[in-house]
Amino acid sequence: MKEVLIYTRFERFWHWSQASLIMFLAVTGFEVHGSFEMFGFEKAVMFHRAASYALLGLIVFAIFWHLTTGQWRQYFPTTKNLFAQIRYYMFGMFKGEDHPTHKTEISKLNPLQRLVYIQFKLILIPIVVISGIFYLFNKSIDKNNIIVISEFKLETIADWHVQGAFLLIVFLIIHVYMTTTGTSITSNIKAMITGLEELESENKNDKKGEAKNEG
Ligand code: HEM
Repeated sequence: MKEVLIYTRFERFWHWSQASLIMFLAVTGFEVHGSFEMFGFEKAVMFHRAASYALLGLIVFAIFWHLTTGQWRQYFPTTKNLFAQIRYYMFGMFKGEDHPTHKTEISKLNPLQRLVYIQFKLILIPIVVISGIFYLFNKSIDKNNIIVISEFKLETIADWHVQGAFLLIVFLIIHVYMTTTGTSITSNIKAMITGLEELESENKNDKKGEAKNEG
């Protein structure tokens, strides 16, 4: 075993800021929705808008980082070991079996994580963000002081936004549960805080780029 820097400083900053912003947006958003009262409607709207601009800014940096570092490759889906990984999460881990895949520096995500995270990034986040942007600019005032209403019906935009928000919360709950399934209950969370994780020294038999990985 050796201690390896698995998550860079930017990656950790991006991960925790994104998580905090999504949770704050969920709280303020569902207050706007009328689910409960915490800040009061007006403040909730103001906070929700401010946090949504922060999230948009973060997403721009994150896209830039993924493209320039080549880290986007980590999310490229593969079916290799996918069913072994699903079987492990459903039965194997409750019987104390070994992880079917092992995390390495060049392959941090197991096949199931790749599949889930790519959908999170390319489907779920865009649904919430794009519907949020339509929501933001649904009504605006033009130069002649005339209110311009977008051609998209507000109810349809709100529906997409709220459904996406629900799915994001479901994702968050499952995601937090799954973080406890590493080598120890807290090893994955610790790694995302410190960046460091104890990994098995790389197996010489693993071919380049096909290194196994652990959830
Ligand atoms: C860039 C991201 C986002 C943008 C631009 C955005 C924008 C908006 C806007 C403009 C509204 C209407 C209230 C207002 O006028 O401020 C709204 C409502 C709402 N947002 Fe977001 N939002 C974003 C992310 C999120 C996230 C991540 C969640 C939850 C996880 C969320 C949950 C909600 C909910 C539940 C509502 C209430 C919808 C309704 O009942 O009409 N939003 N959002």
